[in-house]
Amino acid sequence: MAVLLGLRGLTKSFSGVRVLSAVDLDIRAGEIHALIGQNGSGKSTLIKLLSGYHAPDRGSVVLRSADIPMPMRPGEASRLGLHFLHQDVGVVGSMTVLENLRAGRYRTTALGRVDWPKERRAARAALAALRLDIDPDARVRDVPAAERALLGFARAIQDLDHTRGDVLVLDEPTAFLPGPSVSMLFAAMRDIARRGSAVIFVSHRLDEIMEIADRVSVLRDGHLVQTVATAETSARQLVAAMLGRELGTLYPVRGTARGRRVLGAEFLSGRMVHDVSFDVHEGEILGLTGLLGMGHDEVPYLLFGAARAAQGSVQVGDRTITGLTPARAIGAGIALLPADRQRHSGIPNATVLENVAISDGGRFMRGCRLRHRAERGAVQRVLDMLDVRPADPDRPLRTLSGGNQQKALLGKWLRTDPAVILLHEPTQGVDIGSRRQLLQKIADIAAAGTAVVIASAEYEELAHLCHRVLIFRRGAIAAELTGAALTEAGITEQCYLA
Ligand SMILES: Nc1ncnc2c1ncn2[C@@H]1O[C@H](COP(=O)(O)OP(=O)(O)OP(=O)(O)O)[C@@H](O)[C@H]1O
Ligand SMILES: [Mg+2]
Repeated sequence: MAVLLGLRGLTKSFSGVRVLSAVDLDIRAGEIHALIGQNGSGKSTLIKLLSGYHAPDRGSVVLRSADIPMPMRPGEASRLGLHFLHQDVGVVGSMTVLENLRAGRYRTTALGRVDWPKERRAARAALAALRLDIDPDARVRDVPAAERALLGFARAIQDLDHTRGDVLVLDEPTAFLPGPSVSMLFAAMRDIARRGSAVIFVSHRLDEIMEIADRVSVLRDGHLVQTVATAETSARQLVAAMLGRELGTLYPVRGTARGRRVLGAEFLSGRMVHDVSFDVHEGEILGLTGLLGMGHDEVPYLLFGAARAAQGSVQVGDRTITGLTPARAIGAGIALLPADRQRHSGIPNATVLENVAISDGGRFMRGCRLRHRAERGAVQRVLDMLDVRPADPDRPLRTLSGGNQQKALLGKWLRTDPAVILLHEPTQGVDIGSRRQLLQKIADIAAAGTAVVIASAEYEELAHLCHRVLIFRRGAIAAELTGAALTEAGITEQCYLA
């Protein structure tokens, strides 16, 4: 098949550190091409060279046999036929859905005014094409993370021109999506490829790659080490190419300890869940799952006081937390790692040190001065423990790759030695090598006595890691799986039961 997009010798360094080394890559018309690699291997940087966000130090890009100017001017990529869903520069929370979808492409009337009825129709059509039931006038910050990811996708595909052959570039689009939404996204991607355009797809989920991609390219430390047809490889081989070694077993051995009750939720109700009650014990890892919109992912935020509970109470030990707020939850020994790290958890322009230290600054205060050295040492230990790369406390958080930001922020909460830790999609965006370390870490803190609650749509991970999984349907606990019944197939079946 014809080569649509060719990368020739693309090279990029940041402050003298080589991040991409002479990358050559051909993308063919009609293919879905996966790009994989460990956290920090250079995937997003490569994509940002294509979008004109960064300028390459060397190298060139050919689109439909013509050289394209690098770096591109703003808007140039889209005019040429390159469309992006970026990993971090997502949709703008304070704008409405309509504004996000249509910004930069408004149609005007003869008088030069924006034709809002027409715009609203165009937005509705874009949403309907993805079967998204979102009000175009809703503020994006009020739209749940999963739908927001699909919104970014809807925006990226609006201007695709299949007759000339365009390229759609998706940087971890499935990070927030549970199964059925992923299937929908994949159907849309297949349709795009069938019509003659090409899709570049970044994901850490190898099962997805094996399912959807025609070919896959592997980046390791900024070098493109392999491009193969998925039909001619296996997930195992891809992992070895990514890590440069075999992975071994992914999942930690599950501890059996189950001590006294640490956390109690009684008759909790919020926006999605109603009258939910459960206990979590010392050393226990409890999973909460369900399909999109079933409410399991609201529970950590209710328990933490970050989402307003319509009713119900939360106990830590024997004490009920009155007037639950995040500050009181932290005071009672509860920690939360939200899924939407960009929005809720990290401060992108602050340094890694400031981000990781932030949760317990008090511990390092003496008089009014931060005990810098003690603090730096503690943060450094967290970065080393979770293998954050680079393990440099003084870098701005935003210059870390997505997965490394994630590990640093998890480390921040692990440091506080909480009685209860609430995790929402903890391994999102984390590569398979680091995932193993992270899961081991979670198992270790549970074994040391912390009660762990994980809200996630990663069924396989839940099945291996948790002692118990609660399945939510329509805002209520519909099933509880433990022991031999706690398998990936068992969870899937329970989630899909009507
Ligand atoms: N603006 C920047 N300034 C300095 N270093 C940067 C900047 N952006 C990225 N880097 C570094 O470049 C390397 C590659 O990062 P990149 O974001 O491309 O990784 P990635 O493969 O997308 O990883 P992930 O899977 O975690 O998203 C990392 O070491 C990162 O710290
Ligand atoms: Mg990335």
